[in-house]
Amino acid sequence: MKILILNGPNLDLLGKREPDIYGHATLAEMMAAVQARGSKLGVDVIHEQSNDEGALVTRIGHCAGEVDAIVINPAAYTHTSVALCDAIKACGVPCVEVHLSNIQARESFRHESVTAGACVGQISGFGGMSYELGLEAVVDYLRRRDTK
Ligand code: DQA
Repeated sequence: MKILILNGPNLDLLGKREPDIYGHATLAEMMAAVQARGSKLGVDVIHEQSNDEGALVTRIGHCAGEVDAIVINPAAYTHTSVALCDAIKACGVPCVEVHLSNIQARESFRHESVTAGACVGQISGFGGMSYELGLEAVVDYLRRRDTK
């Protein structure tokens, strides 16, 4: 089983980006923790980041056959991108949306997710642990689906 962790815009700046909100860990440190969790679960975890909406859309749209699921933090595109929502719906693999911060507890423009409705579910507010919880959730989802 292979899971893609896909990170959107500005998440490459974690560690120095608004640490009061996002913490001091870098994206590389968070992804290393998710890969360690993947090893414990017996799944392969790869991760990619892009600031480019079109690149994310293309990556999602062409992932079927290569990965079994996606854990995605669409970052700011969460709140704006119909194109990402459509790509998630079209790609044919289950996606779980994750956020470091609790988007419901922040500015009102962050309360709506355009993309979450296309996903199996959403996890928000647990810092880097959100990725690990998202991984656990999607692996559990796949294992239940495949034993039906
Ligand atoms: C975020 C929340 C978004 O509102 C914001 O634009 C981000 C990060 C999070 O992980 O908390 O870039 O997705």
